[in-house]
Amino acid sequence: PSLDEILNLHDFESIAKLVMPEKAWAYYSSAADDEITIRENHAAYHRIWFRPRILRDMTHVDYSTTILGQPSKMPIYITATALGKLGHPDGELNLTRAAAKHGVIQMIPTLASCSFDEIVDARQPNQTQFLQLYVNKDRDLTRRIVQHAEKRGITGLFITVDAPQLGRREKACNSDMRMKFEAEDPDEVSKSGDKVDRSQGAAKAITGFIDPGLKWSDIPWFQSITKMPLILKGVQTWEDALEAYDLGLAGVVLSNHGGRQLDFARSGIEVLVEVVEKLEEKRGIAFPNEKFQLFVDGGVRRATDVLKAVALGATAVGIGRPFLYAFSTYGVDGVDHALDILNAEFEMNMRLLGANTLKDVTRDMVDASSIHQH
Ligand code: FNR
Repeated sequence: PSLDEILNLHDFESIAKLVMPEKAWAYYSSAADDEITIRENHAAYHRIWFRPRILRDMTHVDYSTTILGQPSKMPIYITATALGKLGHPDGELNLTRAAAKHGVIQMIPTLASCSFDEIVDARQPNQTQFLQLYVNKDRDLTRRIVQHAEKRGITGLFITVDAPQLGRREKACNSDMRMKFEAEDPDEVSKSGDKVDRSQGAAKAITGFIDPGLKWSDIPWFQSITKMPLILKGVQTWEDALEAYDLGLAGVVLSNHGGRQLDFARSGIEVLVEVVEKLEEKRGIAFPNEKFQLFVDGGVRRATDVLKAVALGATAVGIGRPFLYAFSTYGVDGVDHALDILNAEFEMNMRLLGANTLKDVTRDMVDASSIHQH
């Protein structure tokens, strides 16, 4: 179908399933074990309802914001997803180019198919990029990666903390794991510096370098080697969010890695509710908060999902798979169209909600009283 026929972010997934190479579809769409968490990620949003306000002069709406001090035209960012070239020859550059056009932020994955410098070189002036970091067992190498990123203008470092071991993407066994990944581009795997075991699918083949020994006491070391804002990606309880806050980090991403790690992990949006409640109670801070920002990802497919998270205290939300499906099917134009769709949804839903700016999207605009009922 032509892009005009794509009406929402779900449509990209339906088309991608039909036309994408089987191996790429398996890697992008798969999730851990029985895929309960990936289903829950979107379902959790269905337990939150709006309390819109009326008669507030909705002629003008503005849903732009600031994420870690950087401007963004929407309260979303493109989250890190590995191996972009499985879906399209231009890989992550599709995301860089569309993000530039739309004024949204791209988080570059450690395991990008394109090289880090290639993705940074493709950046337009004033465009913002963050980096997702898988921490290498070789800390000297990790330090060099981090400091190189800072030198190249990266303005946020997201340390992934939910993957000491890779989740078993079992449903994709007949494809992701059973297909026995063969790297199309040797550079994809060489970054780890380790010998690559390709017998267990795309995911496992490239993640052997990740340090399962990473611990809380390593965090001050990261703070000592960079001035970039540090964010932990993959926090799932208020206890760990509080620990991150007390360590002086810039924020946390409440995320279960798109359902790809621990199955039966709760959705990020559900965790957001408890994190906001407990941090307000224990430290007296209110959200959204400039100094300690809360992000959510997983299952976000509509501007209404995003606005629910914002109402509940998130600064912004990450979106992953829809952009992968968009560039796998239509290249950069697909991502451009996905962002157009989100823009149109934001404009309409802000009006229908009675919010001129994101500051007007307040806690009382949602009823989340059923969020903990599964
Ligand atoms: C991911 N995600 C991820 N996260 C990370 O920290 N490092 C990584 O290399 C990857 N790679 C990756 C690959 C693919 C194919 C997917 C789908 C996801 C997780 C990602 O950043 C994010 O948490 C989820 O994708 C969010 O869920 P949705 O938007 O995909 O539902």
